[in-house]
Amino acid sequence: MTAEAREAAAIIAERAPGFTPKVGLILGSGLGGLGDQIADAHAISYADLPGFPEPTVEGHAGRLILGTLGGVAVACLQGRVHLYEGHAPQVVQTLVRTLKVAGCETLIVTNAAGSLRTDVEAGSLMLISDHINLQPMNPLTGPNDDSFGPRFPPMSGAYDEKFRDRFKAVAARLGITLHEGVFVALLGPYFETPAEIRAFKVLGADSVGMSVAPEVIVARHCGMRVAAISVLTNLAAGLSYEELSHEQTLHYANLAAGDLSRLIVAFLEGLEDAA
Ligand code: HPA
Repeated sequence: MTAEAREAAAIIAERAPGFTPKVGLILGSGLGGLGDQIADAHAISYADLPGFPEPTVEGHAGRLILGTLGGVAVACLQGRVHLYEGHAPQVVQTLVRTLKVAGCETLIVTNAAGSLRTDVEAGSLMLISDHINLQPMNPLTGPNDDSFGPRFPPMSGAYDEKFRDRFKAVAARLGITLHEGVFVALLGPYFETPAEIRAFKVLGADSVGMSVAPEVIVARHCGMRVAAISVLTNLAAGLSYEELSHEQTLHYANLAAGDLSRLIVAFLEGLEDAA
């Protein structure tokens, strides 16, 4: 996985000579539109990058886009892999470490998630303050590559506090409501049962989804600074009468994508001076 990340980063350097991305972006279900706002964009299909699998889920394009967003050099994964697609969890190592080897010191992750709080409705945005990882596998299992990070990495403060403060300040300036809470990561692909959701509330979760945690674990292991924002596309199972579906996820992700894009662009503007 590490060798593939180095090879993929070499391909990126070859395709975009002299360009060094500083911030990696991972765009979730229905949120790929932000990738289209990248200036001077150069796209590379996942098919051309070793170890990058073709995404199988609607709403995930499967391209890496290099360019400038908010004046910052970015490398954007337009489409992610989910463990429920059947990929080995170590595939996530390849994607995130490619960004790291290419030059990214920061990772911004977005996703669609269910809300466990009835006061936070579909279409809202939530900054992730911490996660509870209930996925049964972990991308760091297997041999550890010490050149990326330690065998037993800490996960305290994984969601960078300064970045969260910056996102909150930017949201206030733009008049965008930005909630904050603890995200619980499940394997999926089924939407949880109402009993599971009640249990996760007791555990302290505010939102639920099927991604983010593996990427953040790999990024923190190799010392990247991380921020993550969810679009809450529905109240979680049992909290409303609506039947959950991927169509609903995409619908609300599309509705909130504009605000999320504005937020991320404004976060990036001037980031290099502020960070
Ligand atoms: N559960 C898990 N993943 C999700 C949900 C949900 O309710 N909504 C969007 N992604």
